Amino acid sequence: MPLAAKRTALGSRRHPRFMSARVRVLLCVTGGIAAYKVVEVARSLSELGCDVTVVMTRSAELFVGRQTFASVTGREVVTEIFADSGEVAHVELARTTDLVVLAPATAHTLSRLAIGAADDLLSATLLMVRSPLLIVPAMHTEMWEHPATQANCALLSARGARFLGPASGPLLSGDSGAGRMVEPSEVVNAALDLLKAPSELAGLRVLVTAGGTQEPIDPVRFIGNRSSGLMGFALASEAARRGAKVTLVVGDTSLRPPSGVDLMQVRTAEDMRTAVLEAASDADVIVKAAAVADFRPSRAATKKLKKAAGAPSVELVPTPDILKELGHNPRLRKAGSLLVGFAAETESDPQELARLAADKRTSKGADLLVANDVSSSDSGFGARTNRAVIAGPEGSVDAGLVTKTNLAEAVMDEVVRLLKGRADA
Ligand code: CTP
Repeated sequence: MPLAAKRTALGSRRHPRFMSARVRVLLCVTGGIAAYKVVEVARSLSELGCDVTVVMTRSAELFVGRQTFASVTGREVVTEIFADSGEVAHVELARTTDLVVLAPATAHTLSRLAIGAADDLLSATLLMVRSPLLIVPAMHTEMWEHPATQANCALLSARGARFLGPASGPLLSGDSGAGRMVEPSEVVNAALDLLKAPSELAGLRVLVTAGGTQEPIDPVRFIGNRSSGLMGFALASEAARRGAKVTLVVGDTSLRPPSGVDLMQVRTAEDMRTAVLEAASDADVIVKAAAVADFRPSRAATKKLKKAAGAPSVELVPTPDILKELGHNPRLRKAGSLLVGFAAETESDPQELARLAADKRTSKGADLLVANDVSSSDSGFGARTNRAVIAGPEGSVDAGLVTKTNLAEAVMDEVVRLLKGRADA
């Protein structure tokens, strides 16, 4: 989908994907005023041919009655772990679903999900599912912006959950700001996208680097940076979702890498270079999202530097620029492969960001260069979102401020477009 494209609301026609096989969607509804909007989501997905099972928390029932969901889905709503039949509901539900949609997702539910709570049917089910999870938050602005909620969302994103919204605007409580649940048609479109399991990258090898490098000063100290690894992990997940065989070269990160990818753990820029060059020769796409240190101490002390010896002077020397080496030395790469670089810039103006991206794309010899603004708390290192511009051979695309998952989708869309252009040429 082109970056700027906005989907129109779905009609009630049956989606071709669902003409033959029945797709099972688990719709988890928690206690927020926006729960009423989810009735429309349940209705649309059912009309499109999905088997929709609704799981509600007790507080969700304060907003919408079970019978409403049962009527639009044609299926009983589940709320208790142990059904009268003796079946353990969460085990059955978790193992038989193709997609889970959590909407509206309250701050409380996000925190329970982040810590792995299993104290009711909904949380126990979410702890068991292995299918894609789409989270649609809705809450007061202050709750959404609270660092605890943001940290929970970052953790859940890193575990592979997809977030949609919240939107900004008037809230159902009467306030206005970020926290409003997105429209039901957007939830349905995002659910359909996740169910589609695109295979555009099937048969291709994608190499992704993520996290920061650490350049040792002595056995306990190093020069590092604030990279979390989140962007690289999102790119690796997205490439794997599109069918690629993914190798992830990871530097410093406290997050758990996505599952289903081959992992190479490294520490220094030099280690990263070795790992990347080893994997680059048969990679069809190389995405260098890692924040590699530009300088390292010329020598690392073998023993801890003692305070009593006075402030040390540390001589710095440049590290190898891996991206530039790959960009200017085609022999290091598979013929026809695509090289994607990243740039951390302290620049929020999209036009200036686009100029820096285009310059760096040329100087590094990359096919695509994603410049992200690291000057504000909602973008760049450690943030769940990124403000970025993607520079390519035909100009730049402003991705705006989007979740790292959405930016990963946008980057992979561009990768697929360029690969297709090359194949057609
Ligand atoms: N990079 C690399 N090897 C390095 C430094 C950076 O491969 N030694 C890669 C990063 O993985 C990223 C890109 O180069 O894809 C851009 O890094 P950035 O730090 O933004 O650019 P620099 O070339 O270091 O330029 P400057 O810091 O001066 O803006």
